[in-house]
Amino acid sequence: MKPKIFITRQIPTHVMNQLKEVCDVSIWNEEDTPVPREILEEKIVDIDGLYCLLTDTIDEELLQKAKNLKVISNMAVGFNNIDVDAATKRGIIVTNTPGVLTETTADLTFALLMATARRITEASDFLRSGKWSSWSPMLLTGQDIYNSTMGIIGLGGIGKALAKRAQGFNMNVLYHNRSRKLDSEQELGLEYCSLEDLLKRSDYVCIMTPYTPETKNMIRDEHFKIMKDTSILINTARGGIVNENDLYYALKDGEIWAAGLDVFEQEPVDFNHPLLTLPNVVTLPHIGSASIGTRTKMAEVVAENMLQALNGEIPVNIVNKEIVSNKSPISYFN
Ligand code: GLV
Repeated sequence: MKPKIFITRQIPTHVMNQLKEVCDVSIWNEEDTPVPREILEEKIVDIDGLYCLLTDTIDEELLQKAKNLKVISNMAVGFNNIDVDAATKRGIIVTNTPGVLTETTADLTFALLMATARRITEASDFLRSGKWSSWSPMLLTGQDIYNSTMGIIGLGGIGKALAKRAQGFNMNVLYHNRSRKLDSEQELGLEYCSLEDLLKRSDYVCIMTPYTPETKNMIRDEHFKIMKDTSILINTARGGIVNENDLYYALKDGEIWAAGLDVFEQEPVDFNHPLLTLPNVVTLPHIGSASIGTRTKMAEVVAENMLQALNGEIPVNIVNKEIVSNKSPISYFN
């Protein structure tokens, strides 16, 4: 019997065909909408593998219903949508998609930084709404990027890729991380700082850290107070790392100059969210890794991780390595 898998969204045809060759596949194939919880609860009972997205909440309550689940293959580098401890406790492998999206996400982060600093969307809206009456010396003036200081909070792969882009703009790059990365300091000329020091000195504060209980609300009122009033916050990681209410007041009261946000605590963000009323906020609908090439590669990696786990191999991108050390490899293909 082929292992049973459930896929929670449309995926590229070639990836689907690859999975169908060896697995019994079912898919939530409504229009491009997240799978309803009740369908997921029904499907989880007897599947061997789950191909899911960051829009699917895979919590303890759901996992309690799973009788055969061996692997949860998440189509994202972040996996805060999954209760990894609950999966580990049940011997279920969890995988993610790091690496393939690093450069694309760093590109988007830098694009958002530039758009926010130079007020690109505001300027475009200004022109299209017929307000442009004359060239004017101080019209829509922004902040300089070249020669400025970038502070990166969380120096993983994407943080380093961002630092490389900053080098091209002759930026001074500071970073804060749980541990120092001496190799990257040498290779990229980075300076390690305390969080407080980084916030005080940076023109651009870029959030690049994973979302965990430790990083929830990591940037809040007291932090905006010590940032420069000309500084810009860029978040392409996860919304909950920054306290959105405090950010709103910091932007409104001029404690910081602007923010570029690709992520929100609740997604999709409510259309009436106070942050969306501010002209000094540039917003995107969580598209950090959204290039055609990268999203296709991510789907391929999700499938590879799934097939490796179902074949009794240790998936290259396993998140909870601790479970395989005391498990003998079993293939579910026969
Ligand atoms: C996107 O946000 C991801 O985690 O891949």
